[in-house]
Amino acid sequence: MSHLAQSDPAVAKQIENEVSRQRAGLEMIASENLVSRSVLEAVGSPLTNKYSEGYPGKRYYGGNEFIDVIENLARDRAKELFGAEHANVQPHAGSQANMAAYFALAEPGNKIMAMDLAMGGHLTHGSPVNFSGKLFAIVPYGVRRDTHLIDMDEVRETALREKPRVILAGYTAYSRILDFKAFKKIADEVGAYLMVDMAHFAGLVAGKAYPSPFPYADVVTTTTHKTLRGPRGAAIFSKIEDRLRRDNKKNLAQKIDFAVFPFLQGGPLDHVIAGKAVAFKEALHPTFADYAEQIVKNAQALAASLMNNGIDLVSGGTDNHLVLLDLTKTGLSGKEAETLLDSVGIYTNKNMIPYDPRKPMDPSGLRVGTAALTTRGFDEDELTQVGEMIAHVLHNATQKDVLEGVRAKVAEMTQSHPLYEGWTYVTPGGE
Ligand SMILES: Cc1ncc(COP(=O)(O)O)c(C=O)c1O
Repeated sequence: MSHLAQSDPAVAKQIENEVSRQRAGLEMIASENLVSRSVLEAVGSPLTNKYSEGYPGKRYYGGNEFIDVIENLARDRAKELFGAEHANVQPHAGSQANMAAYFALAEPGNKIMAMDLAMGGHLTHGSPVNFSGKLFAIVPYGVRRDTHLIDMDEVRETALREKPRVILAGYTAYSRILDFKAFKKIADEVGAYLMVDMAHFAGLVAGKAYPSPFPYADVVTTTTHKTLRGPRGAAIFSKIEDRLRRDNKKNLAQKIDFAVFPFLQGGPLDHVIAGKAVAFKEALHPTFADYAEQIVKNAQALAASLMNNGIDLVSGGTDNHLVLLDLTKTGLSGKEAETLLDSVGIYTNKNMIPYDPRKPMDPSGLRVGTAALTTRGFDEDELTQVGEMIAHVLHNATQKDVLEGVRAKVAEMTQSHPLYEGWTYVTPGGE
């Protein structure tokens, strides 16, 4: 029996339950993925015991000789992976990465131009209930009503009018490619920094299945746990030189590092940084490009299948790992659809659609992604079937036999793609 099962069976049991849920369900939440056993081992290691405030070679605590090697590995691999000049791998999460980046580039009260949450942006891109909306003057941009695409002419007009300090490109619910070159041109025209939050598509950039923001952006933030398939956490990349404030003593890389520590965070999570190093090595392997390409192919197969089965999609398809369903015609709300799909073991999340007449807690849309299923080895054929299953559930919400049939199909599909085989927490190698 494992140590945890013996000392704290209440927690051990729920971990076991959660692993069983992950094994038996179709994980389609676009911001989630399934990490490798190696990443799990690193994150579950005694590195969690260590304090290492500061950076490699400049710590506020002793005994960091091995931690320094690990953090340097993580930084070097991250830079190699994306062709970045500078990497900070300490942010605990994507929200902290964005906060640190904003404070490195701007002062409270400065204007930051970012995608509206209701149109596909993230909470940290200026929502009034978030630190970003409270501390900075947010200038939102959205998508066109007719195409659901970002209109770069409108972005330019808004930027010329508002003269923001930072222009942020990035999203949490947008299924198309961003024109980083056009964003950079606008940033240059108005004297703004260009920041890209690639949290959702970082794995696709790493695998060259999505354009890279690195030639254009001053600062790039990312979470490490979405398409990048690393542990829960984040990283910030930057150019070394500060294009816009050469007068200042600190360069951009120094400003980023200072904004993470000591400005925002204390001790880094060394066990998580080790997990990031492992994940970056995995992403550097040539097979990761096949993985990234397959994520997009799977999302496109899913999108086609949903549309062929009478489900409307925002922007009519996808270029990345996610698909945004407009449920208006089904008569279901996003919340109802999420609950219904949960009941058959298909995990998704309710989401606002552009110009949504409904409220955020019960919006008109549903967001689905293919990163986790692709990790499990699902192909386009299977994603086509998953699209049919989702549509079938949404069109037959009250029919118990339909739900039962889809539940059985989910069981069949997940059994043919085993997850964490042989891994048991409570009884290693056991029941
Ligand atoms: C684009 C984007 N940025 C930042 C974040 C925040 O990441 P975290 O939840 O790790 O704070 C998310 C999370 O979903 C995201 O989608």
